Amino acid sequence: MNQTYQKLLDCYESIKDRIPFSPKVALVLGSGLGNYADSMEVKAEIDYSEIKDFPVSTVPGHAGKFIFGYVGQVPVVCMKGRVHYYEGYPITDVVLPARLMKLMGAEILFLTNASGGINPSFGAGDFMLITDHISCFAPNPLIGQNIEELGLRFPDMSTVYDRELQDKIRKAAKDNDIPLKEGIYVQLTGPSFESPAEIRMLRTLGADAVGMSTVVEAIAANHMGMKICGISCVANLAAGMVEHPLTHEEVQEAANKAAPLFKQLITESIKSF
Ligand code: HPA
Repeated sequence: MNQTYQKLLDCYESIKDRIPFSPKVALVLGSGLGNYADSMEVKAEIDYSEIKDFPVSTVPGHAGKFIFGYVGQVPVVCMKGRVHYYEGYPITDVVLPARLMKLMGAEILFLTNASGGINPSFGAGDFMLITDHISCFAPNPLIGQNIEELGLRFPDMSTVYDRELQDKIRKAAKDNDIPLKEGIYVQLTGPSFESPAEIRMLRTLGADAVGMSTVVEAIAANHMGMKICGISCVANLAAGMVEHPLTHEEVQEAANKAAPLFKQLITESIKSF
């Protein structure tokens, strides 16, 4: 059998008896949102380190576990901590957690992240509803023998981000007076931040925000037929748009500052799904 698929099935087998319910929503928590589950009614937790051969993040602030709980009435599995391609994992490992959450039963993948703002009308602390993405700077996670059990060899990517879910997120933002921008997210591999010339290129290509995650997970989830939505927290203006050099600390600080409102937006959105 395909090794990537075998690994996925092995991971699922090793934890399936500890999954307390079939989650409706799989929520990937980006920078700043690590303690989101504190506000949830938690039913179970599974440390990534307890899952055989599961990729464990090496990034400070991203240490990981699956947390199962309810947001309102909605059963949710949260990913506290995600792995990034720049950590050196094969791209199939980077998307393994998203695939595993689908096997757990999740119908919806809700992706969050911190990004650099490219659109000049954006400011640090803004939230951006992801309406589409640009994937061609990161390796495609579907390269290799197709896993027929999961999806098609040539999956359509016309509407990766579900239109109904987008409308529900817009409404949740409006009803709660939370300003929400919209735009195209581009994933680069990192770990270096972009150069100003790269940011100008990305703007020319139509990107509004740039980051180092999310798109590959969205591609793998779309391949499996999940409904996908995403919100990015613009933590900084991208390289060349501000005078000072970019640092991980600045990104984390901005993401932490925006976190209370981000959490509210996520909670109100999920309750409406
Ligand atoms: N570039 C890439 N990734 C990021 C940025 C950025 O400016 N900010 C937060 N994540």
